[in-house]
Amino acid sequence: MLGRVNHIAIAVPNLTAATASYRDTLGAAVSQPQVLPDHGVTVVFVELPNTKVELLEPLGEASPIAAFLEKNPSGGMHHICYEVDDILAARDELAASGARVLGSGEPKIGAHGKPVLFLHPKDFFGTLIELEQV
Ligand code: CO
Repeated sequence: MLGRVNHIAIAVPNLTAATASYRDTLGAAVSQPQVLPDHGVTVVFVELPNTKVELLEPLGEASPIAAFLEKNPSGGMHHICYEVDDILAARDELAASGARVLGSGEPKIGAHGKPVLFLHPKDFFGTLIELEQV
């Protein structure tokens, strides 16, 4: 079912500082910030040879990462995104095996304009999993 790691997402309290750290201390190529009101985040992409890291900063009162940052005030790994060929087939297979899909169970359009779903972290060893159809 799983393909490549599409990205690893890290929630950060201060996107400007985190971007500078990746760019200046770690020497990575970083994007301009993208404001994604539908997702309640502002994101910077760190481009690596084999994958991406997404730095996520909360946007707005109802940001889905606000509670995570309350528990992890200095930031932390928020989710890992795996690519799948067919997101609906993956969802149905996972649901049949008892894994919980978050939200309505219908894919949403993610930060890269592709359909995504999230799986309950308690079903996967404490890690929030995002599936993205590529
Ligand atoms: Co993601």
